[in-house]
Amino acid sequence: MTDQGHPFGSDHPIGVAVLGMGNVGTEVVRIIQEQSQDLRQRVGAPLVLRGVAVRRLDVDRGIDPELLTTDARALVNREDVDLVVEVMGGIDPARELIGTALTAGKSVVTANKALLADYTGELAAAAEHSRADLYFEAAVAGAIPVVRPLIQSLSGDRVNRVVGIVNGTTNFILSAMDETGADYSATLAEATRLGYAEADPTADVEGFDAAAKAAILASLAFHTRVTAADVYREGISRITSEDLETAAAVGCTVKLLAICERVPASPGEPGSAQGGKDRISVRVYPALIPRKHPLSSVSGAFNAVVVEAENAGRLMFYGQGAGGAPTASAVMGDLVMAARNKFFGGRAPGESVYAELPIAPIGDTPTRYHVNLKVADRTGVLQAVAGEFAQHGVSISTVRQEGQDEGARLVVVTHHATESALADTVAALAELESVTSVTSVVRLEGTEE
Ligand code: HSE
Repeated sequence: MTDQGHPFGSDHPIGVAVLGMGNVGTEVVRIIQEQSQDLRQRVGAPLVLRGVAVRRLDVDRGIDPELLTTDARALVNREDVDLVVEVMGGIDPARELIGTALTAGKSVVTANKALLADYTGELAAAAEHSRADLYFEAAVAGAIPVVRPLIQSLSGDRVNRVVGIVNGTTNFILSAMDETGADYSATLAEATRLGYAEADPTADVEGFDAAAKAAILASLAFHTRVTAADVYREGISRITSEDLETAAAVGCTVKLLAICERVPASPGEPGSAQGGKDRISVRVYPALIPRKHPLSSVSGAFNAVVVEAENAGRLMFYGQGAGGAPTASAVMGDLVMAARNKFFGGRAPGESVYAELPIAPIGDTPTRYHVNLKVADRTGVLQAVAGEFAQHGVSISTVRQEGQDEGARLVVVTHHATESALADTVAALAELESVTSVTSVVRLEGTEE
């Protein structure tokens, strides 16, 4: 498409199809139309909107109705469409439409985390085959540039850890619970009323959305294909106001974290002296973090991602992780890149999965725990409780007693322990005559220990 006759630009348009006109699609269409002059300068050629695929035509969307179609496949296949923006979400028909576009050599920009978390391999292969581009900055943490830094800026470094708050809905809920003391159900209802949580909040509150993003981040960070099924996942629906209260008492708050971590091969492992493989741990769960940790101050619907790389050290990316205009900003950045590539003849980096690091099971991943127990307030109880921790090889860091008599509560914070050792300890604690109940077990992250 490079126009040799126009060294400073071309009048030959680059045709764009947008699939989906929800919050993000509406903003993408608006920006393409309102900023056409700037976009033309930045790309080198005009970006022309050829059409927008929607589900229904009987809605006034504030654009020329001639641009709207319900036939997404025909739109993708139009000869004057060079680039496809997929912001419809879901697996079907997005998977097929993106595949069709890529196979035809049309570059694709997508914000579809659920699709990428399972099918990046298939889509990247189609892109590779036809020398098209697949861009997806908007799939993780909305407006925040974190995909491109991992793929490009840090491609000469070795990433060891990526930890993020990548779901705004759950962060809004946990921040509100922390600030107001309200319980989970009341706060979820308020988040729904304010439009932060969807009518069916499952994907957000049970951690599926964050797990898809964690799979994408881990794939990029560790040059290994990681899918949603590889991610250990727990949501926030069991977090109580009491968890927030006891967290506050030890100088912590609770956040839903997406953690992607390199687990170095231990020196004793067979073959490690000859370069035995590191493994990777990818997990999403609510965890206590100290209030002095940089992620603790990320409140409301904001997102943040901390990347730790061997040479760069710690980097932090922060901003709006959802919403029409912020997500459209990331889509537009990709669209300009894809259009420039069409015009100047460059290509986006393809999928990099050469490292093929194995996934470490959650049972092998030691973390610290915050265990809340209701106990009888009498002599010997503390000894019995501590005995069970010792018996199962779980080392205690601190113990606090709150309340007295019937209302006595013990809060035990452990040193690092494996999931299985902790689970055995909890089962044994629940059998103790002096323990009324194990009211909660929440992990503790972000401490130096
Ligand atoms: N529902 C997501 C969130 C935004 O709450 O952050 C889209 O991934």
